[in-house]
Amino acid sequence: MVVGVMGAMPEEIGPILSRLKNVQKHEVADNIYYTALYGSLDLVVAYSKIGKVFSALTAATMIEKFGVRRMLFSGVAGAISAELHIGDLIAATKLCQHDLDITAFGHPYGYVPEGKVFVEADPHLLELAAKVAYDRGVKLKRGVIATGDQFVADEARKKWIGKTFGADALEMEGAAVAVVCDALKVPFFILRAISDAADMDAGFDFDAFLQSSSQKSADFLFAMLDALDQAQ
Ligand code: ADE
Repeated sequence: MVVGVMGAMPEEIGPILSRLKNVQKHEVADNIYYTALYGSLDLVVAYSKIGKVFSALTAATMIEKFGVRRMLFSGVAGAISAELHIGDLIAATKLCQHDLDITAFGHPYGYVPEGKVFVEADPHLLELAAKVAYDRGVKLKRGVIATGDQFVADEARKKWIGKTFGADALEMEGAAVAVVCDALKVPFFILRAISDAADMDAGFDFDAFLQSSSQKSADFLFAMLDALDQAQ
């Protein structure tokens, strides 16, 4: 099975690439895609660059050009829920775009005609993640992730996103990957480790914890790859 492993930034994908052998590089559409065999899995790994447009392009390229049939995303997020702390893992049950706004035409936030506010992650991959977490004694929370083309470092904006979408965490790519995978019928799983609380300290915390939280997310993602390999 061809499995896509995405992140947004080099720091998110580095810990995954460093564990693969005989990695091949491919340049497509202004980005680099790394392919490698991992057990029975054909992996395609890439960081997209930050934001919804770049991540949608990378997800679509992985699916259409590389034949990806399962998509896994690993990276960091800002916490909205007070129950999420730096380093905690959250798997998205569903994702939305918090910055999508045509409310002027009477639509709800996050909605455009023929779209939907929430895109749901694959229940089988979520179940597999729960089993991996249980087997390894790792705490994995589930929740709603809100995506937007904004680094949120503002208590009021964060609260608004939490209240409007019932979101537990926020980041800048997940919902874009979700929309692409949903449209192209590829089951997906979005995993994030908390790097900051999307508050006025967020910029500082993000820099301080990007590496360690990326590593935590990547470690869990690798365990998911082992489980997927064994399930083959
Ligand atoms: N990813 C990690 N922290 C974030 C934040 N505060 N805003 C947007 N994306 C993030």
